Order: sequence, then C-alpha cells, then structure tokens
Amino acid sequence: MWLESSVTVPYGIELMSDFEDSQFARLVVERKLCTPNEVGLVRAELKTINKNGKSQSLKDLLTERGFITPSQVTRLNMAVDEDSMYRPAQQIPGFQILSKLGQGAMAVVFKAKQLSLDRLVAIKVLPKRLSENQEFVDRFYQEGRAAARLNHPNIVQAFDVGESGGYHYFVMEYIDGKTVYDLLSDGTPVDESEAVRVTLQAAIALEHAHAQKLIHRDVKPKNLMITQSGTVKLADMGLAREMGDYATAAAEAGRAYGTPYYISPEQIRGEINIDPRADIYGLGATFYHMVAGKVPFDGTTPSAVMHKHLKEPLIPADHLNKSLSAGVGEIIEVMMAKDPADRYSSCTELIADLEAVTRLEPPLQARKKYDHALLQDLATGTRVVQTGRGTTATDGQTGPSTLTIIMGIVIALSLLGNAVLIAILLS
Ligand SMILES: Nc1ncnc2c1ncn2[C@@H]1O[C@H](COP(=O)(O)OP(=O)(O)OP(=O)(O)O)[C@@H](O)[C@H]1O
Ligand SMILES: [Mg+2]
Repeated sequence: MWLESSVTVPYGIELMSDFEDSQFARLVVERKLCTPNEVGLVRAELKTINKNGKSQSLKDLLTERGFITPSQVTRLNMAVDEDSMYRPAQQIPGFQILSKLGQGAMAVVFKAKQLSLDRLVAIKVLPKRLSENQEFVDRFYQEGRAAARLNHPNIVQAFDVGESGGYHYFVMEYIDGKTVYDLLSDGTPVDESEAVRVTLQAAIALEHAHAQKLIHRDVKPKNLMITQSGTVKLADMGLAREMGDYATAAAEAGRAYGTPYYISPEQIRGEINIDPRADIYGLGATFYHMVAGKVPFDGTTPSAVMHKHLKEPLIPADHLNKSLSAGVGEIIEVMMAKDPADRYSSCTELIADLEAVTRLEPPLQARKKYDHALLQDLATGTRVVQTGRGTTATDGQTGPSTLTIIMGIVIALSLLGNAVLIAILLS
C-alpha cells in the first residue's frame, strides 16, 4: 500500500496554489508515473498558460503532454479522494500514518507509528462535523482523559486525545486481530463456550471501567476485538458518543448514528443518568447475537428496532438455538430485562453467573433475580421479568424453582381455604 512507507516529496508542492493539483502531483510522483522534474516542468508550463487567463488543471496538462493516460487519471482521482481522508491524520505531529484500519459511522481509524516510542498505535480521527460541536469536543476530552487512566488487559488502552489542524483524534493501543462483528458476519452462531468466554472477558473489562465511574454506552460486536492470541479487548472505552436523546434523534430523518441493535431502553428514552446496567444490556444483546446468530430485535428502520427494545418481549435465545444450555439463556434474559431493576445490578453479579456456567453449574444470580421478580409479580399481579422461566434446579436443567413451588403451594392452599370457607357459608 502506498501509505505503508513515509513519503517525502522532493519538491515544494506546498508552493502550488491549487491544493487538488498539489495532491495530484504528489500521487503522480509517488506512483512513479512521472519524475519530480517532469512534474516540475509541466507545472511551470501550467503557470504560464494560466497566467493568460486560462484555468487548466495539472492532470489535463499531464495527460495532454502524454505523461499519464486517461485511465490513470481516473485511478488517481480515486486516490485523491482517499487522500483527503488521510490528510487530517497525516498532520498529527509525532505519528506516522501507515494504513487505514477501518471506518465507522463516526470516524476513521488509522494504524500509525508513534515515533517517540517506536510503537504501533491506532488513531481515531473525528470528522469536522463532530469537531465543530463544542459540547461534544469537551466531553470527548474529558472522557478520553478519564479512559487513559484506565489500565486493564481486556480494555483497548487509551493513550491520548489531541487536536491537529482542527481535527480531534484519539490515540489508542493497536489491536492485531478481529472484531466480534467479523465473527458474526456469516450469520452463524458462535460456539457457546467461545461466546461465554468473550462475554466473560468483556464483563470483567466493564466491571473495571464501572469501578472507575466510566460507563461505555456503546457495547456491541464492533467494539469487542479479539487479539491473535484470543484475548478479548473492549474498544472505544471512554469515547464520547454522539448520543443525547435517541428518541428525538430517531425522529430526525437522515441523522447518522449507529444502528441501535444493542442499545438499552433507558438510552433510547434519552435518560440522563445512565448507569452500568445500560452496558449490561448492550453486552446481553451482543451475547444474544453471538449465540442465536441474529440480533435480538430487528426492523427496517432504527425507530422500529428501538420500539422493539422498549416494548417487545424477547424471544429467548435458546428458542432460536435449541442446543443452547438453559443457563446461558437465563443469563441473557436477565441481562436484557427491559427494566434495569430486573437486570444484574452489577458486572460482578454477572461475572459470577458466567463463571458458574463455565463450570457447568447453574447461574444462581439470574435465578435469584427471577425469584425476586416472581415475588413482585405475585404481589402486583403483573409480570416483571420477561424470562418466563422458573429454574433453580441445581443440576442446570430447566425446572420450577424451590421458591416457585413454595409460592404455588401457598397460593393453592389459600384458594382451597377460600373455597372451603365459601362452601361453609353457603351451606
Ligand atoms: N484499537 C484498534 N486497533 C485495531 N483496529 C481498530 C481499533 N479500533 C478500531 N479498529 C478498527 O476500525 C474499525 C472502525 O472503528 P470505529 O470504532 O470507528 O467504528 P465501529 O466501532 O466499527 O462502528 P460504529 O461506527 O458503528 O461504532 C473497527 O471496526 C475495527 O476494525
Ligand atoms: Mg468502535
């Protein structure tokens, strides 16, 4: 790739007035289609021509003089477009941009070398659109600095935030690996034990961040990376998100923000005090996607998907993937309860359950949540948790919980008592 090596253009292209011509000239030389001298000569001729009131471009004159062909011009034009994206990154002092790693809805991520430490890093460069929003930029710095203080083997290490040429950027650890999104791209579920392993490491990462009062708010397959050696790394920790009120945003046609397949109901409602349970929901939706092979709620528009997160009962993951163990299904349902109060209250609780199923034991924390919700159901006559399960059997098989049985007996006895009383009164 032409950007793999650092590029020194041996003539003063910066003196050329028209920026597009400068870019074009640089690419022509880099691709060895012309020598710097040839470009220099044509450039000098161009100056004379344009002095006489013409506005010919460098590419036209290079083609006219036979230095490049029209098809090379087409390819070079495409390269100029790509170059425009690289430009802000190339101006970041102290870093040598090597290649483009990827592009999300919000930014472009580059692989770069940090010259002072001679190490590889990833740099996320925000588009001007976001850099011009002062509130966003302030939060970007505040959260970026907070994230840089975190240090955990399961979190992509944030190194620095900065600004160059009006562009804001985020420097982080470079991960040589793939994302969970890549794993899911063929539409088949991930092996259950691998999904549990990935979710467990992500939960450990989140527990650490939450202890430092940082909420991720965008846990999803694209933000979970897996290194060559299999370590899971949570990405974009501490990156300010273009959030605000998702419900309002949804109503705005054409507004660009991530597909809300993994977003929690409270974020959709635009609640201000988002807590760790929002991340537990996002991780639950990611876990669901991994084991079921499809997202928990689908729809043709972001609003349709968000509406389902708010209102539609979840189809249990083990209804879609029949080979899934009951314990994993229960964990996901508690992670994805619509009311945060019915979810795991912390990643510590979630980790205990994930470790339990790893040992082929039942997820006791999930079952406690279920029993608690059931008690509330009985007290209020409403369903609180969408699990619809009653499983505290210690062998990990689905079956009614002890508490469920006791409550059932109590209710049956009271109904029987009432019936007897009515019978006595009527007789
Ligand atoms: N630290 C990193 N090391 C290596 N590659 C990375 C790193 N961070 C991001 N990437 C790559 O860059 C891509 C774009 O990342 P980015 O965070 O901008 O968007 P995203 O998370 O994929 O999607 P979205 O915009 O929907 O949030 C990622 O999918 C990943 O392939
Ligand atoms: Mg990302």
